[in-house]
Amino acid sequence: MLQLTATILENVPVAERTFRIRLDCPALARAIRPGQFVMLRLPGTHDPLLGRPFALYDTVLDTQGQPIAVDVVYLVVGKMTGKLSQYQAGQSLTIWGPLGQPFRDVGTSSCVTCVAGGIGQTPFLAYARQLLGQRGYGGDPAKRSVEQVRLYYGVRSAAFAAGVGDFRAAGVAVHLASDDGSLGTRGFVTELLESHGPIGPLAGCGPEPMLHRLAAIAEQWGVPCQVSLETPMACGVGACFSCVTKVKTAHGDWDYRRVCVDGPVFDAAQLVRE
Ligand SMILES: Cc1cc2nc3c(=O)[nH]c(=O)nc-3n(C[C@H](O)[C@H](O)[C@H](O)COP(=O)(O)OP(=O)(O)OC[C@H]3O[C@@H](n4cnc5c(N)ncnc54)[C@H](O)[C@@H]3O)c2cc1C
Ligand code: FES
Repeated sequence: MLQLTATILENVPVAERTFRIRLDCPALARAIRPGQFVMLRLPGTHDPLLGRPFALYDTVLDTQGQPIAVDVVYLVVGKMTGKLSQYQAGQSLTIWGPLGQPFRDVGTSSCVTCVAGGIGQTPFLAYARQLLGQRGYGGDPAKRSVEQVRLYYGVRSAAFAAGVGDFRAAGVAVHLASDDGSLGTRGFVTELLESHGPIGPLAGCGPEPMLHRLAAIAEQWGVPCQVSLETPMACGVGACFSCVTKVKTAHGDWDYRRVCVDGPVFDAAQLVRE
């Protein structure tokens, strides 16, 4: 894991209360893989004191194809993200990572379907590019492993949809849903997914009720499903146990797992649904 001070190259609005921040950190950009996350902390202040976790949106390459920067897309929800949205290019942040476990190999499958709710689309751009062989991550060469990646993306309204163009440019088939019907189908993204019938391996990220529904759909369809949890975290490195989730054990019991080191990506069938 690396901890460094990174210069902000860009911090631009991409949707309602949503920004993409680009951080100059070549060593971290070379090491990080889709599904992993970084902790960001505002330097020179104790308010907030702790860093906050954010998924890798994607790495940025130089003209020789070498990773030089990391993009994070964030929704302003509270103190840290509110302050972060005021930061300008040229200022710096403390960043540490890569953290957590990346998305796992899906084996042989022609299509992977990512299902996102709210700001849960963020881990899927790099994952899609990896699956489609457009990019290698963590020092691996690019290698195509699926024919198609689909994204089912649900937002509260059209104004909150962030990065749809990035996914389409990567060749992802995007299906949209919104709570108010202002974008795509009106209703839950999981309902849209179900209306399209059984499809291969799933990956999900979003609010807990959405992930529980997705886990139930995966069970019903008999397909594997990875979910990326957005559990609040204090340290991000396994030291504080503030991020635990309940995971089924081999003995039919359950135990706690730290989302920051054992996750954030888990097999949906492993998680205890309450
Ligand atoms: C592995 C991981 C990856 C993440 N990736 C992203 C990402 O790519 N983009 C992004 O915008 N956010 C992401 N998050 C969520 C992000 O960490 C929180 O939104 C952020 O910590 C909020 O900080 P804040 O100081 O602005 O809000 P705070 O002032 O700490 O909280 C404001 C409000 O939001 C609630 N809240 C805070 N964190 C969470 C959370 N994780 N889940 C639900 N409610 C929360 C609080 O209870 C409070 O009501 C991720 C979280 C994890 C664990
Ligand atoms: S955030 Fe501290 S142990 Fe996970």
